[in-house]
Amino acid sequence: MTDTLRIVRTERALRGQVWEYRGHGETTAFVPTMGALHEGHLTLVRLAKKKADRVVVSIFVNPTQFAPGEDLDAYPRTEKADVKLLRAEGVDLVYIPKPDSMYNAHHATTIKVGGVADGLETDHRPTFFDGVALVVTKLFNRVAPDIAVFGEKDYQQLATIRRLVEDLDMPIKIIGAPIARDEHGLALSSRNAYFDEEGLRTARRLNEIMRNCAAQMARGENVDVARDIARKSLLAAGFSGVDYIEVRSPNSLTVLEGGVLNAPARLLVAAHCKGVRLIDNFPVKVST
Ligand code: PAF
Repeated sequence: MTDTLRIVRTERALRGQVWEYRGHGETTAFVPTMGALHEGHLTLVRLAKKKADRVVVSIFVNPTQFAPGEDLDAYPRTEKADVKLLRAEGVDLVYIPKPDSMYNAHHATTIKVGGVADGLETDHRPTFFDGVALVVTKLFNRVAPDIAVFGEKDYQQLATIRRLVEDLDMPIKIIGAPIARDEHGLALSSRNAYFDEEGLRTARRLNEIMRNCAAQMARGENVDVARDIARKSLLAAGFSGVDYIEVRSPNSLTVLEGGVLNAPARLLVAAHCKGVRLIDNFPVKVST
């Protein structure tokens, strides 16, 4: 394959290149990432390639979405390997901004998305989506893509970005990509790199336990009973804590009260395994 990847570190060069694409009548799809790329990211890139003429990927570990005490400093930074993977995928441009160029000393603007961003992650990471909304808005303004691709693994994040784009009239089509899983069903995540073998074995139980939970609900089990069984099963499997197991409506993420489901739903989970916080989600296929 001919090497067409351009590595860009300044906003000026980025804007110039994307304008050049546009000048040639080409569309741009954008995949924002925090690096430490794995097969999950590459599925986003492949989807982006199908949807537009050019693909731009950003790599930026965004400090505003980490709370004090979270793993900002430890977050894996693997730029060389990331660039190699993106080159092999035929990505056109990788944007790697310098940290101080994203947030200068005078930065004073925040963005808060309500509705879909309330509850779930926000109950445990209160400022997380503020940081995501801020950096995604800044990246969207800089890249000015036609399309942007986000993974369904971060289901609430995807819903939050959709709301942000609609509410702020951003002319960008948001596409959700299905969750990429390993052969045991564990959703791929950069944080899986923190696991030793035993941790990985335990983490892989999440998929089986939550799929059973979704299947029970789909068969008409009471939601609270099914959630309770799943919570106990996770703890018995070696998880040290469960932040939430919740069932929401698939698009608006409205809380579905206890009882029996009578429409398709989404089961969302966050749980701690050997010091790593895992999130995942599953469709609950209730026939209507
Ligand atoms: O999903 C992620 O990796 C990040 O939250 C994102 C969207 C790149 C913003 O930093």
